Amino acid sequence: MNQFDDLIAHAAGVQGRSILSLFDADPHRAGAFAAEYDGMLFDYSKTNIDATGRGLLLDLARKAGVAEKRDAMFSGAKINETEGRAVLHTAWRNPGAEIVVDGHDVMPALRETLARLHAFAEDVRSGRFRGQGGKITDVVNIGIGGSDLGPVMATLAMAPWHDGPRTHFVSNVDGAHIHDTLAVLNPETTLVIVASKTFTTVETMTNAEAARHWMAARVTDPTAQFAAISTATDRTEAFGIAHERVFGFEDWVGGRYSVWSPIGLSVMIAVGPGHFDEFLAGGAAMDRHFRTAPFEANLPVLLALVGVWHNQILGHATRAVLPYDQRLLRLPAYLQQLEMESNGKRVSMDGADLPYNSGPVVWGEPGTNGQHAFYQLIHQGTRVVPCEFLIAAEGHEPNLAHQHILLAANCLAQSEALLRGRSLDVAREICRKKGFSGAELERQARHRVFPGNRPSTTLLYPKLTPFTLGQIVALYEHRVFVEGAILGINSFDQWGVELGKELAMALAPVLEGTADGAGKDGSTLALAARIRALRG
Ligand code: F6P
Repeated sequence: MNQFDDLIAHAAGVQGRSILSLFDADPHRAGAFAAEYDGMLFDYSKTNIDATGRGLLLDLARKAGVAEKRDAMFSGAKINETEGRAVLHTAWRNPGAEIVVDGHDVMPALRETLARLHAFAEDVRSGRFRGQGGKITDVVNIGIGGSDLGPVMATLAMAPWHDGPRTHFVSNVDGAHIHDTLAVLNPETTLVIVASKTFTTVETMTNAEAARHWMAARVTDPTAQFAAISTATDRTEAFGIAHERVFGFEDWVGGRYSVWSPIGLSVMIAVGPGHFDEFLAGGAAMDRHFRTAPFEANLPVLLALVGVWHNQILGHATRAVLPYDQRLLRLPAYLQQLEMESNGKRVSMDGADLPYNSGPVVWGEPGTNGQHAFYQLIHQGTRVVPCEFLIAAEGHEPNLAHQHILLAANCLAQSEALLRGRSLDVAREICRKKGFSGAELERQARHRVFPGNRPSTTLLYPKLTPFTLGQIVALYEHRVFVEGAILGINSFDQWGVELGKELAMALAPVLEGTADGAGKDGSTLALAARIRALRG
């Protein structure tokens, strides 16, 4: 027995039903199974959720205490229980608020840092802050995970507003990444931002060291062209970065939730503080909606419930995020960390094994590119992949408006094809027209059948602006929160990343030949020996 039983029983009863038949039965379904807020529409009518199913899902959210847990998060309670931390990334998009943690109003310090960030970003953009060779032409953000994916994703998404220096991102410990990035840059006009919440992450610290070395070859005072973002200001000082270019934040901002915080500095320099503020305002608008809208009209709650329906109730293990928006190229990668690091857990908050599946595998690519790569499996493979489409009503290129029409037509066509499919009869007719007959017609026709009845949702927004981007990112954050609350897990720790990090530190000396790897398994030792031998 668990909280999903009623829904699983309901799902079993409607299993054979076609989603298309729901539209026949209810001409108002498209409006009834959609919700809108601030210009953003979430359409979940192309799923097998009916009024009964939705009622059960809403009950599930209520019984799981989603509203109480949400209010606890916003109030600064330490809901990240395994790390003993509050979860307050939302404070950065609501700087006017008063929020108390451990009896202390945390907002004045936040506002002061935000003002310093604005001033520094403006100084870099205007040339008041200069490199040894003059005005800063390039910014290199060194960070990984949440200290990289958010800024990468947001900078590209806000490309039409990018009027500051060129921005580059280095994350991988693979030396190829920093090498290829720095190879084309001039150290005398480059600003390096070391972005690391902990300032201990091996990849980031190794790349930061490499960048300092590169800078030192041409610049008299290399760390004068470094800035740092961290919760560990003692470590930034030890690295040699002057405190006026260090921007701190508190441990109640999780790495994968940190793009709103000083971690967003590279974005702010690229698009300007005003546009960054609009991004924050979009996030704050979604926060207000999440906190106040009834569940049946609450976008994050509905997104989460559709997710639960497909994953925990119907057993679909993955979900595809398919932005028909080239500037959201990195959104799927960003959401992979947000969703999978948050809800990829195996025990509930109290440490008991979960008797059901936790979060899904999240993946995707922008349309229309994905259509020419993996949509074959989505349409005709044996597994069902719930799809989440995103599309703007309008693009940014007025002289290419017809391309946006083509883009939107493709987005709608894909969800229609998934819904409708193509029957064997229609496939036979197509083959007949192609000249096939007899057994060969039958064989060819079967390859051209689309089963259809495959669920998808569509998030439709007017245009991708900094504000809209803020709405979208906050929407997904809160969706993760609601799913985690229903699953009864801690969405805000990430112990699953620890073991590999520890083992890597122990294996580096084995690869270098300074440790023998005693206690390691045969495969690992054999691979290490082969790498050593091939390296000579
Ligand atoms: O690898 C896990 C992780 O801790 C992420 O949660 C985090 O975003 C990333 O590493 C980077 O951490 P930091 O900002 O401390 O360098």
